[in-house]
Amino acid sequence: MVIVVGSQKGGVGKTTVATNLAAWLVAKGHEVLLVDADDQASASDFSAYREQTRGTTGYTLVQINGLLVRKQIEALRPKYDHIVVDTGGRDTTSQRAAMFVCDVFITPFNPRSYDLWTITKVSELVEEVQSMRTVPMMAYSFINRADVKSQDNRQVSEVLQGYESLAFLPHPLTNRKAFANSAGVGLAVFEMEQPDEKAVAEIEKLFNAITHASYTTTKAV
Ligand SMILES: Nc1ncnc2c1ncn2[C@@H]1O[C@H](COP(=O)(O)OP(=O)(O)O)[C@@H](O)[C@H]1O
Ligand SMILES: [Mg+2]
Repeated sequence: MVIVVGSQKGGVGKTTVATNLAAWLVAKGHEVLLVDADDQASASDFSAYREQTRGTTGYTLVQINGLLVRKQIEALRPKYDHIVVDTGGRDTTSQRAAMFVCDVFITPFNPRSYDLWTITKVSELVEEVQSMRTVPMMAYSFINRADVKSQDNRQVSEVLQGYESLAFLPHPLTNRKAFANSAGVGLAVFEMEQPDEKAVAEIEKLFNAITHASYTTTKAV
């Protein structure tokens, strides 16, 4: 399965999610390719820390940009169980190229109004890409850095639910130090010596939904 983590905004948690997802799939015993399609190369930095901390990443990392993303993913797809693509925070050629060949597109939103303003653009981008694909991709939105107070998240959930082209996954990742701390040493949250169990439970729910639902809903238009 090819999973693209995208958005039209930086700093919403794409790299955090992409790297945790890659490590999570590795832990489940899969052969994983992590594609760093962001020219800021944060997933590559994460992987370098990861090698220092663990000796090996457990997945294969490649940096690809621009139109090549599409060709390379198609060429590499047979060699891996899963390909996770981390993209930059804009509507880039790389992100579009990845969206054309992916099975699943996931996009995080932070519960801040200026983040939410980009949802219309993301949803239009998804619709545009879908109209050019022969087989539709699954496209999901979810909340990252959710507030501990659930009151604030409810309003954001309602907004995200209003977009048909992006299925809303009701499995938020809360704003937790564990996500930032683990990334700093190249680890997924569940790989820390004393893991934050709440953070671990959140990614289990989110990643199970992402990987499970898509197996059953890939159908021709
Ligand atoms: N759920 C979270 N809780 C706390 N910090 C987070 C969470 N998700 C992301 N961050 C932090 O937010 C910043 C931006 O995240 P990042 O994954 O680099 O975003 P992007 O790749 O979209 O630019 C990083 O410092 C990261 O550690
Ligand atoms: Mg990033």
